[in-house]
Amino acid sequence: MSPPIFKVLTLIISVFAIMQISTAGDPDILTDFIVPPNTIPDGNFFTFTGFRVIFSPNNTVSDFKVLKATKVEFPALDGQSVSYAILEFPGGSINPPHTHPRSAELLFTVEGSLQVGFVDTTNKLFTQTLQTGDLFVFPKGLVHFQHNADPQKPALAISAFGSASAGTVSIPSTLFNTTIDDNVLALAFKTDVATIQTLKKGFAPKA
Ligand SMILES: *[C@@H]1O[C@H](CO)[C@@H](O)[C@H](O)[C@H]1NC(C)=O
Ligand SMILES: *[C@@H]1O[C@H](CO)[C@@H](O)[C@H](O)[C@H]1NC(C)=O
Repeated sequence: MSPPIFKVLTLIISVFAIMQISTAGDPDILTDFIVPPNTIPDGNFFTFTGFRVIFSPNNTVSDFKVLKATKVEFPALDGQSVSYAILEFPGGSINPPHTHPRSAELLFTVEGSLQVGFVDTTNKLFTQTLQTGDLFVFPKGLVHFQHNADPQKPALAISAFGSASAGTVSIPSTLFNTTIDDNVLALAFKTDVATIQTLKKGFAPKA
């Protein structure tokens, strides 16, 4: 039997190791905030008004739409390890399977209902039907999707990210809207080249 002090030390080391993992994310900055060159920060610098359009009475979307506030749209987020997105789902629309390589996603259902799901690294699918008011977390880096299954009612969600630049890898687009060789894709999907070319056509610019 190991002496108790050894067990305590092991426990302390494990706790620190877990903390290390759970705090892995955007690098810490050594200033209060980061200001781009030639910018004098004031209240406006820390304000993002790009989401006002959501509340405009004439705001209508015909397909799934995401409005982002990452460090690209909102430079004050640089170094702050947070960002937001507003997801608008007209009836029947989907946000296709995708991943965010640099952050988990905390989705808040503000209006309507959403079918959501993600697949873990053991290939297990976790799904849920979210009602207005529900929160759902998509773990960092895992493939996930959202679908408004109601053909009549729109849905709206707000997603928070633990990175100023969570990144998005869209699975359909990554596979079929790049120049990955048709043979590679045919083999990967256990199908023929013609089927792959049909799938790729869906991403071609509309004539
Ligand atoms: C929609 O409303 C906003 C004000 O809320 C206005 O600025 C914009 O021009 C309107 N757009 C259309 C297409 O009517
Ligand atoms: C496919 O990729 C091109 C070039 O990156 C892009 O302009 C286009 O919007 C993409 N098509 C779809 C349907 O995502």
